Amino acid sequence: MWFIPLLSLLPPIVTASPSPPGWQFVQNGTTGIIPIEAIVVSPTLAVLFDRVQDDPLQINGHSAWSALWNFETNTATPLDVVSDTFCSSGGFLSNGTMVNVAGNVAEFPYTTDGRMMVRLFEPCTDASGVGCTITEDAQHLRLAANRWYTSTLRIFDGSLMIVGGTHELTNFYNTDPENTVEFFPSKDNGIPRPLPFLERTIPANLFPRVFALPDGKILMISNTQSTIYDVETNTETRLPDIPNGVRVSNPFDGTATLLPMFPPHFTPEVLVCGGSNISDTTPFEDVSAQDPASDQCSRITLTSEGIERGWEVERMLEGRIMSEMILMPDGGVLIISGGQTGYPSINTAQDRFPDGEQSNADHPAFTPVLYTPNAPAGHRFSNQGMPTTDIARLYHSSVTLTPNGNIFLAGSNPNQGIVNTTRFHSEFRVEYLNPSYMGVSRPTLRDVPKIIPFHHTFTITVDIPTGIRTTDMKVALMDLGFSSHAFHSSSRLVFMDAVLAPNHKTITITSPPNNRVYPPGPAYIFLTVGGVTSVGSHVLIGDGKAPPVKDQGIPLPP
Ligand SMILES: *[C@@H]1O[C@H](CO)[C@@H](O)[C@H](O)[C@H]1NC(C)=O
Ligand SMILES: *[C@@H]1O[C@H](CO)[C@@H](O)[C@H](O)[C@H]1NC(C)=O
Ligand SMILES: *[C@@H]1O[C@H](CO)[C@@H](O)[C@H](O)[C@H]1NC(C)=O
Ligand SMILES: *[C@@H]1O[C@H](CO)[C@@H](O)[C@H](O)[C@H]1NC(C)=O
Repeated sequence: MWFIPLLSLLPPIVTASPSPPGWQFVQNGTTGIIPIEAIVVSPTLAVLFDRVQDDPLQINGHSAWSALWNFETNTATPLDVVSDTFCSSGGFLSNGTMVNVAGNVAEFPYTTDGRMMVRLFEPCTDASGVGCTITEDAQHLRLAANRWYTSTLRIFDGSLMIVGGTHELTNFYNTDPENTVEFFPSKDNGIPRPLPFLERTIPANLFPRVFALPDGKILMISNTQSTIYDVETNTETRLPDIPNGVRVSNPFDGTATLLPMFPPHFTPEVLVCGGSNISDTTPFEDVSAQDPASDQCSRITLTSEGIERGWEVERMLEGRIMSEMILMPDGGVLIISGGQTGYPSINTAQDRFPDGEQSNADHPAFTPVLYTPNAPAGHRFSNQGMPTTDIARLYHSSVTLTPNGNIFLAGSNPNQGIVNTTRFHSEFRVEYLNPSYMGVSRPTLRDVPKIIPFHHTFTITVDIPTGIRTTDMKVALMDLGFSSHAFHSSSRLVFMDAVLAPNHKTITITSPPNNRVYPPGPAYIFLTVGGVTSVGSHVLIGDGKAPPVKDQGIPLPP
């Protein structure tokens, strides 16, 4: 006689497990300064920068205007910066040092002129930032030109390119332009290069949107125009204008991103969304906080056929000004923050309601939107399942993906000084947008090398929770970018070839072919499997040397 184990005859036990939570906003902590700019500098920390003003966070007997934000404790620690970092920019060098450049003239007695400043934040290995600080040396570490509202980009040799800006005066438009580029560390014996593209795009050429293409050239977008700039030959190739007269750089801040790139060709595509189609000859006193923002997105493929096709137009679910686009580790693009009407800047536009309101923008966009680049046209934008916040993130706010895989939102201060009586008051509250994968068991990565050369195959250990489909696997190499004025400079996602071992315990990965596909420097590796993303693992791509570094790796396939 034999018997069948009873259990095998029963239907599988179904535990009443709640369906995983969707995306959620979670508020936690306050910054004590207004994070006009934010950059993730380690797995646990971001550096935040404000303008010099009466911030509640104090250091050495005065208000701080920079701070370290700790993602583990949700607290801010002041950093002692001396020069004014108002509307500055920044990024990483190939050796992992973070550089913040430019700013404004000294506004308070205890500050110095920030416009030519170069501020260094060396790699920080202490999880809570003990001993990590900003170095300023006005004598030896400085730009060649005064720059306020400049953009910064890490290029193929691991140095930073610094693009445009204004000297001192700006009510709204750039009426005092610095139409040049320079580099840190400097090139050309420190003499800035005049850039006709910036000249052509005044008066709306502040914070130009600039991107390092995988051949090493630079795509630049400013006002309604775009161009490809070759750093090595100092020449430009003009591209078609953004369709329908839409302007996308400050003071008409649309946002723009290089879309995720895939092996083996890493074909670059750029998406530009929002901004305004108002004429840039409109006197700045005449624009209205109620003018609708543009709902237009324009997308271009930067190959010869793509450039021939030109910009292709799509429409968002709403108009947006001062929104940001965040690359997500699974290849999606999050469109978040900003307003549906009005403009950047403070206290100048008509129709600011109620009386005394200072914001030039209105109708905050409270619900984020996901853009799926590879979905068919007409099916790319969705806010389904997206939560809605009630915290406005308008002018002088920042947002970034964190190494944990969620989105950090901070700031907003469309006011002169710290004001809490206006509808859009100075905002100190931090909020996270947690993607649905934050609420489930996630894959983890181990034994990830700290420095990874180009075109290099390496194996890491993974722990993939049971129940996760492993057929759909992506390994992303990401620069999380520097957030300032609706633009995430140096932000980048390069997918890497990756093979999961049959036992699902290891993944063998091949790094990008060369330093033009991913400019050498810090990165995070994220694994997404079955729609669930791991925590990012911090690495340095390249040889870790100080810029300028030599070309490394192999050429792209033809
Ligand atoms: C806020 O963050 C702290 C530190 O990580 C944590 O202990 C606390 O539970 C968080 N609060 C909420 C509401 O998530
Ligand atoms: C300008 O933008 C507004 C708001 O999106 C839109 O209603 C209008 O049709 C646009 N005008 C042109 C000429 O494209
Ligand atoms: C305004 O400031 C007061 C006093 O510091 C504070 O209690 C209140 O919460 C603030 N309001 C806002 C909207 O921040
Ligand atoms: C990286 O290079 C810059 C420029 O040469 C230098 O100032 C910085 O100290 C270097 N950082 C490290 C970690 O060596």
